[in-house]
This record gives sequence, C-alpha cells and structure tokens, in this order.
Amino acid sequence: MKPSDYEKSILAGKFGEEAKKILEVMLKIYEINQAEGFIEVKEVMLASTQNMSIGGELGMEFLIRLAASGIRFRAKTITDPVSIDLEAWKALGIPGEYARKQKKSVEALVQLGAVPTWTCTPYLAGSIPRYGDHLAFVETSCVAFANSYFGARTNREMDISALASAITGKTPNYGLHLPDKREGQLRVKIEAPLTTTSDYDALGNYIGKKAGTQIPVFQNMDPNVSTQAVMQLGAALATTGAVALFHIAGITPDIVLDPHKYGQKSITREIAFTEADYQQAYRALNTTEKREVDFVAIGCPHYTFDKIREIASFLEGQKVKAGVTVWVCTSETVRNMARLSGEVQKIEKTGAKVVVDTCMVLAPVKLLGFHNMATDSAKGQFYCSGFGLGVRFGSTEKCLKAALTGKWEE
Ligand code: F3S
Repeated sequence: MKPSDYEKSILAGKFGEEAKKILEVMLKIYEINQAEGFIEVKEVMLASTQNMSIGGELGMEFLIRLAASGIRFRAKTITDPVSIDLEAWKALGIPGEYARKQKKSVEALVQLGAVPTWTCTPYLAGSIPRYGDHLAFVETSCVAFANSYFGARTNREMDISALASAITGKTPNYGLHLPDKREGQLRVKIEAPLTTTSDYDALGNYIGKKAGTQIPVFQNMDPNVSTQAVMQLGAALATTGAVALFHIAGITPDIVLDPHKYGQKSITREIAFTEADYQQAYRALNTTEKREVDFVAIGCPHYTFDKIREIASFLEGQKVKAGVTVWVCTSETVRNMARLSGEVQKIEKTGAKVVVDTCMVLAPVKLLGFHNMATDSAKGQFYCSGFGLGVRFGSTEKCLKAALTGKWEE
C-alpha cells in the first residue's frame, strides 16, 4: 500500500497518537488479510457506545482526544445506537452521571463529522446503500442486512478499523468485498411454516449456531416475507453465528442475479429447518420458567414504521399493567413519522414508551432494576440473558399481551 500524503502525515503524528494508532491498526489488518489493495468506501458505520458497553471510559477519552486533534472524517459516517435515549434518558430512569458520559462520546463523534443517526437501521433513516457499494460497518445486524438485502459489501468491522475508514475514506479490499468470497456455503431448506417476525428470529438463532462462519443460503422462504422479518433474521444469525452475509433464493440480489455462483457453486453442507427444529429453537430462547414479567422490550433491530403501526393498533385503548415497563425501540426518524401519524401517541397513552437512540441491549437494563423480560427479538434475548435477566421470547403479540397482564401466556 502506498499511503497518500495525508495518510503519511497521520502516520507521522500530525493529528496525535490516537489517529496514528488507528491507521497503524488498519495497515496491520491489510497485511494480515493479504488484502488486494484498498478501496474507497461509500459509507462507514461506527459503534457509538464507546464509554459504556464497549471500551469503558478509556474509549470515551480516546474519542475526545481524537476529536480535539483536529482530524475530521472524510467518509460519510453514520452512527449505531447509544446506551441512552438522548432526550428522554431521565424518563427511562438512567442515572445522570451515566448519561453525561454517554453524551460526551456523542459530542465527540458529531465534532468528528459523524451523522447522528443513532440507529442500527440507518437504511430506514435515509442511508440506503446501493448494490455493490463498499461500506465499512460495525453493527452486526446492519452488516448482515446491508450485505444480504442490498447486496452492498462490508466486512464485520471493529470499532477501530471503522474509525480508520471514516478518517481515510478507504478499507482494505478483502473478505466480503470480493465477489468470490460471497458465495453461499450452507444450504438451508425451510420446512417449518414461518408466520410471525419472531419465527424468523428463531430460524436465525438456530441456523446461526449451525453456520458458524459459513454463508447460509435459504431455500423455500415465503416470497412475501416482510423487510422487518429479514432484519430480524439477519440480527439473529449474526448473534449466534459469525454470519455477515446470507442469501435467500429468489429474494436477495446476489443470488437473484447469479443463482449458480451464489447459491450452488460453493455449497458444502445442506440442512433442513424442520417443525421440530422450530420448537427446539423457541424452547432454547426461553430462559426462565417464571411467568411474571416486569420489562417488555421490543424493537431489535429498531422497528420499521409498519411495525410501530401494528403495535399501536394492537395496544390502542388499553393500559399497560402497573409495574411493567414497556420499551418499543426504533430510530428517531421512524418515531418522527409515527408521531406525525399519531401512532406514538396511541402507544404512549397506554403507558408504553417509544424509545429512540438506544435499545434493551445497549442501555444499562440491569442497572434499571429489571428482572424478567419479554421480547420478540432473539438478539435481545441473547444479550439480556447474558446480563442476568430471565427472558421470555415469543411473538410481538405475546409480548404485548404480557405488557397488559404482567404475565407470560404459556
Ligand atoms: Fe439494534 Fe440494539 Fe438490536 S443495536 S440490532 S436494537 S441490540
């Protein structure tokens, strides 16, 4: 690689130690992966919780020093969710000191030139990749969705490698940037009927464990599957497996454009997802026997407008059970639309909250004192179980019923 004059100046320390380190890491990644040069990226997505769940306070201070160095992002850089609702954090019970720290990271990112999207579904907020675009994304559900649904190209970046792409506008050309590395390897025949979005979570959770690093190719999927369901599938696959790309026969663009290359040529294994596997997936996703629920958290990945409307029409005119906290997570962009159409008001009249900028995984839910959660997201289930919460997993409708009664219906 021949660094440009600008990159040479960074490596020489013109913008301080932080920027220099970031570029050195990028060069190491290039070397280790024997990349085929560098390519320009159309968009970068950064992790935004440096001060909380990822790097602790050191991460926050690193970002602040980087912003103070005068360096600015050269690529369009969007941001994944943070650990608080940036406006309504007090109403969620987030301690002031915690919010203050998160806001410092947010300020540093904006100063560096980031677009304040604070969502894992930036494509619902105006950042829509085109087929073949090269990206450098961090958030795993968004990586899987951008690669699969849009046919854009990104590896699963780390915080630091994505920062390097934001600063230079480039990424090493290896892995999923290369068409030959995107061929499907594991054929999955869907034999169980899938109806709710959580059914796609169950599928993704189950197949992610089987796939490991292989690229799944789904066959027999409902051609009318909703965008929300594919988002849920990708998030679940990327949680239990290192899945950054999947193909769906007849639906996702790589395989539609070249069915042989992406759906046949490199297949080494074939499995079925049967009714019995479906039942097993649901059993594994329920990690408590308790029926009492004190936290209902839905909207992972951040919900689409259609899903918000579905929830509003289900909840309208009812009341959330006293003692149950309900979060419906989405992006600020989607919430604004849903406010204009009156859906947010219908939801919040019931006592539920439409929460933006954050989610049940990135917010400090344990600190907020919740014990038993209901969710329709396999990714939410995975992480919140890890935080020590008992989790009930099921359809959105089941979660909303639990919100109204305080009890999980068997
Ligand atoms: Fe998005 Fe948070 Fe889920 S970042 S994918 S809502 S864990």
